Amino acid sequence: MSIQPDKNSRALFNSRIGAIAAAAGSAVGLGNIWRFPYEAGANGGGAFMLCYIAFIIILGIPVLCAEFIMGRATRSNEMRAFRKLAPGRPWFMTGYLGIAASLMILSFYSVVAGWTLDYFIGSLTGRLALDTPDDYHRTFVEFTSGNWVPLAATVIFLLVNMTVLLRGVTKGIEKLSKTLMPILFLLLLAFCVNSLTLPGAMEGLAFIFKPDFSMITPRVLLNAMGQAFFSLSLGLGCMMTYGSYFSADTRLGRTAAMTALLDTVVALLSAVIIFPAVFSFGMSPAEGPRLVFEVLPAIFHQLPLGGLLSTLFFFLLLLASITSTISMSEISISYMIEEKRMSRRKATLICTAIAITFGSLCSLSFGSLSHFTIAGLTVFDLFNYVSSNVLLPVGGLLISVFVGWKLSPDTIRAQLTGDGSYRFRAIRFIVFCLRWVAPACIGLVLLNSIGLI
Ligand code: PHE
Repeated sequence: MSIQPDKNSRALFNSRIGAIAAAAGSAVGLGNIWRFPYEAGANGGGAFMLCYIAFIIILGIPVLCAEFIMGRATRSNEMRAFRKLAPGRPWFMTGYLGIAASLMILSFYSVVAGWTLDYFIGSLTGRLALDTPDDYHRTFVEFTSGNWVPLAATVIFLLVNMTVLLRGVTKGIEKLSKTLMPILFLLLLAFCVNSLTLPGAMEGLAFIFKPDFSMITPRVLLNAMGQAFFSLSLGLGCMMTYGSYFSADTRLGRTAAMTALLDTVVALLSAVIIFPAVFSFGMSPAEGPRLVFEVLPAIFHQLPLGGLLSTLFFFLLLLASITSTISMSEISISYMIEEKRMSRRKATLICTAIAITFGSLCSLSFGSLSHFTIAGLTVFDLFNYVSSNVLLPVGGLLISVFVGWKLSPDTIRAQLTGDGSYRFRAIRFIVFCLRWVAPACIGLVLLNSIGLI
């Protein structure tokens, strides 16, 4: 199948940078700055980092290419893409998996975005100017266990997300983030330099960059794989939908590689900021989801103009989060509009109502519902764990098998080489990974984690 120009009214990202910026806007977010450091910290540092980078190369980039290929070949959302490419077969059900995953992620992600909102306001008003790292720990625990404020922050974030989606100003937000994200990048670089000068910085760097191979356990592999999928927004049809908007001359392979590179660099910068500080302040790297919200404000507080930098940082992090939540909301919204013939307004309201309901439960997991656990996990942890470590990898597995084995090699070649108008050297590597490496790796890690092998 050669590359189709877009016949219907789907908007196209027409510049090369536009395609990368949109994909990176979805990929870069709390996953890099909040989730990556705490997962790395809780999973042995260097061992996790090594597995993570390996998974980005052998799973992340190939699956990203696969999603782009399916999206642009069909100009459709995930469910319709499978229906078009495999009519009458059950492959389209992968779309339901994507919708479930996107709603689960939206629910707990909004809680963390709510924390970010509160920390933005706290930095602005000076409420966050505390003294010792211990104060930051206490403040965060008090804040999240206090039920109402974090709950309100979650709901407010979701309402802002809804307003952006309803008003159709998504493009505006993406434009804004395209101009402001370089500032976030520079800020991260500056914080890195600062962290490297802290006493004990070397210990932090060794923790994250010196892998202890004996620490590579099945659990570390599972968490690193889940993080790779989560961070690249893979396995749920999000990148497929973005691929469906790419213009005919967007180079898919290059866009995938650039997106993965940018996303990984932001995660690495964030680790280089956090771990030297963790060791320097005498904190534990295995703090879990609280880690970054306790360490970052303590770092900012030590800096000249700390309040200002902190306000700017949390604002930019909010913006990065909203470009990610827009992309995950679009999965269920476009399903309701395109498959269920609903209006955009109704679809957006339903998506927001679901996210507010489950988001509230996730938020209360740190307060009144902290003792309500399923299989030992709070609602927040359960959503976080199941979506990233199970649903996304299973979705990625199905997409890999489909593109690797079912899609015609001609379609893959046409999509990756612009109908033969340029060469794409890594095509064999990508197809090999999709056919063999991804199914084997994902299958083994998943089966192993449920104790079957
Ligand atoms: N990749 C986003 C992040 O790192 C999160 C995300 C996951 C976005 C899944 C869309 C879909 O923050």
